[in-house]
Amino acid sequence: MTIVAAGAARARSPFESILTMMTSSPLAAAVAAVGFLLMGGACLADEACKGAFRTSVQPILNTRCVACHQDAARAGGLSLQRTSAPASLLGVSSREARMALVTPGDPLRSYLFRKTAGTHLEVGGNGARMPLGGRLTEAEIKAIEAWITGCTAD
Ligand code: HEC
Repeated sequence: MTIVAAGAARARSPFESILTMMTSSPLAAAVAAVGFLLMGGACLADEACKGAFRTSVQPILNTRCVACHQDAARAGGLSLQRTSAPASLLGVSSREARMALVTPGDPLRSYLFRKTAGTHLEVGGNGARMPLGGRLTEAEIKAIEAWITGCTAD
């Protein structure tokens, strides 16, 4: 009976399922409330991560990287254009190293950060420091580092 009910709840939208749970028992209501809070927290962190990306990182990528890394022509298989970043970066594997391009909260385990800081060879990466043929300013590298640090794993 319980299994059937759970199966039915799963078929509905998450919102309807939560409403059903809230009306079925006080305990379920408490669980649902905690769920809402956790979801809210994750969304806020996600928004902060996206916001910082938009204001302090995308402008750097646009001026220093997108000429080569664009959706239509991806140098090294990577696009850094607005339409694909940061979804194409967070937790996505690098093609050059056994590391994510961006590991939320951890710049040193973020290959994109290492490529701009020039420490990518230390972690088994290859190729040139980015941007190819140039170098970001310390402030630009710090902005990317701060953005990654501010993103949480959830
Ligand atoms: C002049 C062209 C050019 C510019 C500008 C450029 N790149 Fe690249 N990028 C490449 C090429 C070519 C490769 C592949 C060869 C290599 O890694 O050296 C590459 C590879 C990469 C990789 C490795 C992709 C992977 O899957 O591991 C990352 C990360 C990267 N670039 C980030 C950047 C960032 C960040 C910028 C701007 C700060 C930038 N690039 C600017 C040409 C460019």
